Amino acid sequence: MRWLLPLFLTLCLQSQGTFLVKPYLQLGEAPKVAARERLDLLWHAGDEAAAWSVEVRGAKGWIAQAAPAFRRLDAPPLAPHRIYRATLQNLPPGEVVPYRVKRNGAVVFEAEAQTRKAGAHRMVVFGDAADASPTQAAIAKAVAAAQPDAVFITGDLVYGRGRAAEYRAHFFPAYNGETAPLMRRVPFLGVVGNHDVPFAAWPDASAYFAYWSQPLNGPALAPGQANAAPVTAGVHDDMVAASGTAFPRMTSFSFDYGPVHWTVLDSNAYVDWESPALKAWLEADLQAAKHATWRIVALHHPLFQSSRSHFDDQWMRPISPILEKYGVDLVLAGHVHNYQRTAPLRFKPTKVGSRGKPVEGEFTVDEAFDGKAVTQAKGPIHIVTGAGGAELYDPWQTDAKASWQPWTRAFVSDKHSFTVLDVELKQLKLRQLDAEGRELDAITVTR
Ligand SMILES: [Fe+2]
Repeated sequence: MRWLLPLFLTLCLQSQGTFLVKPYLQLGEAPKVAARERLDLLWHAGDEAAAWSVEVRGAKGWIAQAAPAFRRLDAPPLAPHRIYRATLQNLPPGEVVPYRVKRNGAVVFEAEAQTRKAGAHRMVVFGDAADASPTQAAIAKAVAAAQPDAVFITGDLVYGRGRAAEYRAHFFPAYNGETAPLMRRVPFLGVVGNHDVPFAAWPDASAYFAYWSQPLNGPALAPGQANAAPVTAGVHDDMVAASGTAFPRMTSFSFDYGPVHWTVLDSNAYVDWESPALKAWLEADLQAAKHATWRIVALHHPLFQSSRSHFDDQWMRPISPILEKYGVDLVLAGHVHNYQRTAPLRFKPTKVGSRGKPVEGEFTVDEAFDGKAVTQAKGPIHIVTGAGGAELYDPWQTDAKASWQPWTRAFVSDKHSFTVLDVELKQLKLRQLDAEGRELDAITVTR
């Protein structure tokens, strides 16, 4: 047995040097639940030639997958590196599937992938997280303990500026490290926030487009076009090149998970959802999702919230009538660093101002719904779940009910927290948990 320890140590050292970022799962180009599933597996490695391969374990042994492709990212301050992508094909839905990665013929990584479930499942949601703080790490650990089937981040994915160097330093280590090895096991999904878009000072900003792999089924956008994330020529060229077709289109998209249709919207100030093309896409997407039992819209900037911070960032409110028309159940947002829940509500805008100005209108509030005895909701429920790690906003408002808007039903800003969505065919259970797993709020919505 004495030879085992040196072998183990050699393997550890090899695999440490092998990856700059260990393999992580993404939904990739698979918006719909299919009879046989697929997931993308990405990892980052040094800029040197190597023969990489990926295998998935089937009933009769290991099955080789199509050869991984890579894109090179050369955006300082990180050294040039390769972003590899393999698609795991023909997976059985709703199962835990072992997979392994080989480099030059040697196994350098092994893990198990939770494939998308067709029915009941657990989705964990949080936002405004990766700021390298101890609270980010604590929430990551609690999320892992909650054993989600998938994770959705409601924007401001990486602080301070969504840079490649920041992903390397405190995003991947937190969610795919040894204390919370989540991303290797379950797909992470997300939407861009205002910190994830290209900042002119940083050539490695907006690494989102190079590092994530999500469906490209949103509104067609070309670089430089209205509603596309604006880049600076001569600064972001390398990042754009490393992003392939993901830039600029991957900002809005939709996907199905179990009985839920998710519509993911880029709510950044450069996007005008009143523009005919975007509005038409949103209506068509929700219309096509009539078959789904549940409809969730996820975006960074909330429509309705009570915090004094960002209170006037209301420019997404005008889409509310469309969400109501197609029976959206939940709207999940971040941006405001706390937890908030509204009553089910309908909103008719009467005065639409410019960005950063209040959007006034008429509210119809479902006063009967309480999520306990009365669980059928008349209108979308708006959730802010932006307490995933970054410093909390307005903690004093937690106990100052008079400061809440009349339709706010829960407000917790003195604790970091995350949302657990337990989805079933006829029932959707939402719980807000703190870093110790204590329940801060809970509602049930039924059909
Ligand atoms: Fe934000």
